[in-house]
Amino acid sequence: MASSSSSAGSSYDIPWVEKYRPSKVADIVGNEDAISRLQVIATQGNLPNLILSGPPGTGKTTSILALAHELLGPSYKDAVLELNASDERGIDVVRNKIKMFAQMKLTLPPGRHKIVILDEADSMTSGAQQALRRTMEIYSQTTRFALACNTSSKVIEPIQSRCALVRFSRLSDQEILGRLMVVVEAEKVPYVPEGLEAIIFTADGDMRQALNNLQATYSGFRFVNQENVFKVRTSRFCSNKWCLYNEQQYVSVI
Ligand SMILES: Nc1ncnc2c1ncn2[C@@H]1O[C@H](COP(=O)(O)OP(=O)(O)OP(=O)(O)O)[C@@H](O)[C@H]1O
Ligand SMILES: [Mg+2]
Repeated sequence: MASSSSSAGSSYDIPWVEKYRPSKVADIVGNEDAISRLQVIATQGNLPNLILSGPPGTGKTTSILALAHELLGPSYKDAVLELNASDERGIDVVRNKIKMFAQMKLTLPPGRHKIVILDEADSMTSGAQQALRRTMEIYSQTTRFALACNTSSKVIEPIQSRCALVRFSRLSDQEILGRLMVVVEAEKVPYVPEGLEAIIFTADGDMRQALNNLQATYSGFRFVNQENVFKVRTSRFCSNKWCLYNEQQYVSVI
């Protein structure tokens, strides 16, 4: 965990999703099979090219970042190229930026490689993915790729076949509750159990959403009960059907 120190009243501005983002693979909640595979890589090295796929807010980006830090330690800053969806990742970036990074000479301990992190890889154009496929092959001795996406089928097959696929699923209510308890205790958040249940119900297995709802309810009302959680939910702009559906479900259970 990035930090678990008690700090009620001193750090409202830091999003709790960042403050409580686990920094070690072992601290990531749920998805035991996926996490134990990543832990083996973290201790043994020799990272294969990876695709982490699964629903939002389940720990994919967190896992890749933690794994890269564990593998590379202080070399992280030189040996990792992070490209997320807000960065330009068209064909030119693959041909230039990624290729230049892959060509760069860097001495790392045995079994360690430079790492290119491509977050939200399913939003890359197929042209860029085609270009990536060659780069992955040519530089495989020195550079490994870790891709995160919601749907692995949007990654072109030649890349899928060069990667080990690690699947993530929605987190269970119990797993989310455990994490919420860590945060409410660290932040000294007043709550009733029904308030946390409401957060868990609306999050639907998405830890990011659960932590954001907890923080929004706390900063809006200073008390987490069903009613306040519901007020935060309805005051939020909801544009997709999934969210509206959950809202109706939620209204119907309280
Ligand atoms: N399994 C988990 N264990 C602990 N915290 C988690 C977990 N999953 C998500 N979180 C929390 O939610 C935040 C967002 O998680 P993360 O960025 O890893 O999600 P993601 O799976 O990459 O989602 P997306 O598909 O939207 O990119 C993290 O910073 C962390 O605080
Ligand atoms: Mg992510």
